[in-house]
Amino acid sequence: MGWYRRHARVLPWRADPQREDDRGRVDPYHVLVSEAMLQQTQVATVVDYFQRFIRALPTVFELAAADEQRVLSLWQGLGYYRRARHLHRAARALVDQHGGTIPRNAAKLAALPGIGPYTAGAVASIAFQQREAVVDGNVARVLARLEAIEAVIDEPATRRHLWRLAAALLPSRRPGDFNQAMMELGATLCRPRSPACGDCPVAALCRAHQCGLERQLPRRRPRRQPQTVEHHIVAIERGGRWLLEKRPDDGLWAGMWQLPVNETLDGEPAAPALVGWVHSRYGLDIAPPATAANFTHRTTHRTIHFHLWQASTHGGRLRRGTAALWRRLDQLEDLPLANPQRCAITTLQGC
Ligand code: ADE
Repeated sequence: MGWYRRHARVLPWRADPQREDDRGRVDPYHVLVSEAMLQQTQVATVVDYFQRFIRALPTVFELAAADEQRVLSLWQGLGYYRRARHLHRAARALVDQHGGTIPRNAAKLAALPGIGPYTAGAVASIAFQQREAVVDGNVARVLARLEAIEAVIDEPATRRHLWRLAAALLPSRRPGDFNQAMMELGATLCRPRSPACGDCPVAALCRAHQCGLERQLPRRRPRRQPQTVEHHIVAIERGGRWLLEKRPDDGLWAGMWQLPVNETLDGEPAAPALVGWVHSRYGLDIAPPATAANFTHRTTHRTIHFHLWQASTHGGRLRRGTAALWRRLDQLEDLPLANPQRCAITTLQGC
């Protein structure tokens, strides 16, 4: 805790760790938003997104009243958009069921849609100093090294063990600061590949360090090779406007917008196959498209090779019921786009 007071980064959602009287100075809504953003994303990336989000939607009421496209637009570029949809659902439930007040109690928080055990524990401890342990990836690594846990840390039994360990270590004084101190240690010193044990305040207590095992621990289940898939983006232009469509409400990039993407072409010569696909899916006639760019996007489980094709339409009518519209490329601010789509659009603007 002493180390945290001296070394904690000053972050816009955090109380000043050097002040003893700052209970109640953190805004629970800020903690909720920051914790949603910090899952899977580093602090340095989150700071600007957090500030922009809070400026646009300063309270849980504005978030609950916002439409989903606005929320996704504010999240655009952060990735893992499901987090934004969950946060939005949680805000709506907070307004409907709790008059817009964020409950102090982790069990009540966890009962809300869109809030899992990690977020519930983090908000209860950080915003309300409730005695709730949390284990995220950083904390899991710190604990696995401290106790020299050799078991694979992604196994459910090991995870349960780590949560119990975190609960046993948790002090009753300022548990939220303790949780953040553990996260901070994991993020800044007890790093995955190059732990800075020389600067670590608990090196003398660390079993992995004593045994020289810090670089071997924690052990992970070998990752499955990501599946490689080919996606064909067909940029279709008509009189200076381009066809954009909304993705379905579930799955990857749910509810976000895109230039049409064919995800199922299977080794066929692409250009003629895409002409047929565009006709049957959108009702539009295009000449065989010209290739414009290729790029790769990696998610946790997939490597997606994107092929960007460009075509103009010379006939046909957009099929009714298609969630699509024609837009100039410089007028897309209100449509949330995932990174590969932004990459495709930037390429087209340079063509
Ligand atoms: N990662 C998740 N929550 C965090 C927090 N409150 N501070 C630093 N890193 C975090």
